[in-house]
Amino acid sequence: MNVQEWTPGQILDISSSYWQTCTLHAGVKLDIFTLIGDAELSSADVAQKLNADERAVGMFLNALTAMKLLLKRDNTYANTSTARTFLAKDSPQYLGHIVLHHYHLVDSWTQLDRAVSTGRAVRGQVSHSDEERRESFLMGMFNLAMNLAPEVVTKVDLSGRWHLLDLGGGPGTYAIQFCLNNPQLKATVYDLATTRPFAEKTIARFGLTNRIDFLDGDYLEEEIKGSYDAAWLSHILHGEGPDDCRKIIRKTVAALEPGGIILVHEFLLNNTMDGPLFPALFSLNMLLGTPSGQSYSEQQIMDMFAEAGVKEIRRIAFRGPNDSGIIAGVV
Ligand SMILES: C[S@@+](CC[C@H](N)C(=O)[O-])C[C@H]1O[C@@H](n2cnc3c(N)ncnc32)[C@H](O)[C@@H]1O
Repeated sequence: MNVQEWTPGQILDISSSYWQTCTLHAGVKLDIFTLIGDAELSSADVAQKLNADERAVGMFLNALTAMKLLLKRDNTYANTSTARTFLAKDSPQYLGHIVLHHYHLVDSWTQLDRAVSTGRAVRGQVSHSDEERRESFLMGMFNLAMNLAPEVVTKVDLSGRWHLLDLGGGPGTYAIQFCLNNPQLKATVYDLATTRPFAEKTIARFGLTNRIDFLDGDYLEEEIKGSYDAAWLSHILHGEGPDDCRKIIRKTVAALEPGGIILVHEFLLNNTMDGPLFPALFSLNMLLGTPSGQSYSEQQIMDMFAEAGVKEIRRIAFRGPNDSGIIAGVV
């Protein structure tokens, strides 16, 4: 067993690290990084543009400078190149949607003790609630997936496949990247009706409207219409308990032609369920937000595949950030 001893300083660093979290969240909420853009502004300029308190803005800009998100010269502030690239809205690599999604989760994380005591979620599903939260959730998933999908699609061989089902595909990020990488492929993004506008807008932005369509549906309540020879289930199983995961896999298998490939992409726990760190913490995020969701281990997903009659089950040689992995099988 690899036991890491903690120093008191490390314990206190973890205990107060949310101060930095909240400072970053406030920077994105106030849209400071877009507001500064390529300029160098004084705290008085920023306070005036925000219609905010000048003393407080000065303290806030100094803290963002201490976090190395801004640069201070004389009495003006500029974006670092990191902040300009990832935190200003006009950048194609903007990560603000996922930062705002994390902001929406904070309240529930402060009630983790209650969720552990009762075993029950303390927040409604953010993906299903109001428009602003839905946008930060869906486009946050887009932020994350866009950083990863171009690499993922090179690890999954879809040559010779003609119709991909992107189940719970959100704005369609993976369907888009799979189609860009496989010229013969068309795809269907299956998701809740409320996701349609985000998906259609994103698919159109990539000029793929003629190859990717959107199918409204609820994979827990309805069968999956259509016929496919590949199915991609990315980050949907963790939202459900084991029984519903089996149901989703069974319905996916039924929608696949013989010889079709099923692929599950998830943050994967090791088989003792006590690591790696991100999937273990992500499981708590699901405890806080869903009745029975959790992170799963490779073995658990493989067992679910086997129960659904899937064969040639294997893990693809790929490890994403936060320990995401892909399990594949053939029906
Ligand atoms: C965490 S996101 C994953 C999005 C995308 N697959 C990815 O990996 O970036 C989960 C998606 O599942 C969709 N979803 C959740 N419950 C669903 C249901 N019962 N039926 C259909 N889609 C659902 C959500 O709307 C959301 O787009």
